[in-house]
Amino acid sequence: MFKLDRKLIISACVGTMFALSATALSADSRATNKINIDGGVSYPVVNSKTGPYWVNTQSANMKINNGRIPTANEIAAWDKDVMPDGTGLPEGSGSVEDGEEIYEAQCIMCHGDFGSGGGGYPALSKGNAEELQQTLTNNRWKDPEADGPTRVFGSYWPYASTMWWYIRDGMPHTKSKTLSVDETYALTAYMLNINEMSIDGEEVDEEYILDREKFLKIKMPNVDGFEPNIDGPNALNDVRKYYANPANFGGIKKEVSQRCMKDCQKSTAKIRRIQNGGIKDFLPPMSVAKDLPKKEASDMGFNVMKSYENNCMPCHGAEGMGAPVTGDKDAWAEVMTNGMDTVQKNALEGLNGMPAKGGASVSDNELKLLVDYMIEKSK
Ligand code: HEC
Ligand code: HEC
Repeated sequence: MFKLDRKLIISACVGTMFALSATALSADSRATNKINIDGGVSYPVVNSKTGPYWVNTQSANMKINNGRIPTANEIAAWDKDVMPDGTGLPEGSGSVEDGEEIYEAQCIMCHGDFGSGGGGYPALSKGNAEELQQTLTNNRWKDPEADGPTRVFGSYWPYASTMWWYIRDGMPHTKSKTLSVDETYALTAYMLNINEMSIDGEEVDEEYILDREKFLKIKMPNVDGFEPNIDGPNALNDVRKYYANPANFGGIKKEVSQRCMKDCQKSTAKIRRIQNGGIKDFLPPMSVAKDLPKKEASDMGFNVMKSYENNCMPCHGAEGMGAPVTGDKDAWAEVMTNGMDTVQKNALEGLNGMPAKGGASVSDNELKLLVDYMIEKSK
């Protein structure tokens, strides 16, 4: 069968995990929504970009600094992966029904109805996982008219443990690491449900309750769709053998079946280049500090409008989220009857569906500016 280069998957995962783990929270800081471990450097979301994605404009000039030994808490915050064999997966349970409820409250604004995606956010389902797995063999290299492969959780991911871990560690995007174990089970159950999957022959229907034992029986349709085989005691040799044979990888080399050092690319191949010299408007530049900071760096350029769009608009931008819509004079007049102090306090500490600070990595002062901005827009 058609095989996918597993190396790609791994590097993609490592990238994601880095992004997620860099915002790792200790249990204490979770309560206050502060993304800061042992006073370490934090990378708040600014202009919708998180630190790990910022271009390090200072790196060319930096002095060598070997950093410091991570603290036990920092290591613990990184070391929380959930493995296919169940390592790291806690006991707990959650139902599809609860998962749907949490999804509608916390995920739907980005991932769409039933995980349909859109608006730049990834789809979490496109229908029946087994059927869609078959589309992975569609090859537009060979048949330009064919539909491309549909790669979503159900059709593509080899292990459900990645899903559990991803949700628990990284979602919801604006306030990651706020979901409990049971909520994570419920959301994972819902993911299986919308991907029309079964566990051990039993359909994950609306009534289904997922727990650890059942979770470990999940078999993803595409579990064998990757190569080289990086599992087991012979992994290293398997990988070497695989890469020793160029016929195993690369669309072009597959045709010539030999190593190529010169003029390997077909002249007709389309090459995409980054336009206009690439990305350069990253602000603030990524920190190169490797020591514990003396004090919180809060002098990063703050753009109220952009921060509003990134952090508040997902819920306050339109009807239907249970939040007073920015620009709705009546709704905000009602909010303001409690007085400015209360409104600011509620925004800071959270209120019902409103997470503390709207789940945003902003300082108290910046939050005040955001609230003022919303009130001003609603006069
Ligand atoms: C504010 C928008 C937002 C919200 C809310 C949100 N997500 Fe996400 N989600 C994203 C973005 C952006 C990505 C892609 C991240 C990346 O690739 O680095 C993502 C990726 C994912 C993925 C991986 C999808 C894939 O195929 O790679 C899963 C699973 C997921 N989210 C589940 C959830 C769940 C469950 C919730 C609710 C608890 C949730 N998300 C809430 C924005 C959001
Ligand atoms: C996940 C959705 C969500 C996000 C994101 C969010 N809010 Fe809210 N917000 C709500 C909901 C829901 C309410 C209504 C709470 C209630 O009245 O019970 C609310 C209410 C408020 C209120 C009124 C509080 C009061 O006293 O009635 C303010 C002010 C506010 N939000 C500011 C913000 C700001 C500033 C941001 C961005 C930093 C933000 N919100 C992001 C959901 C959200």
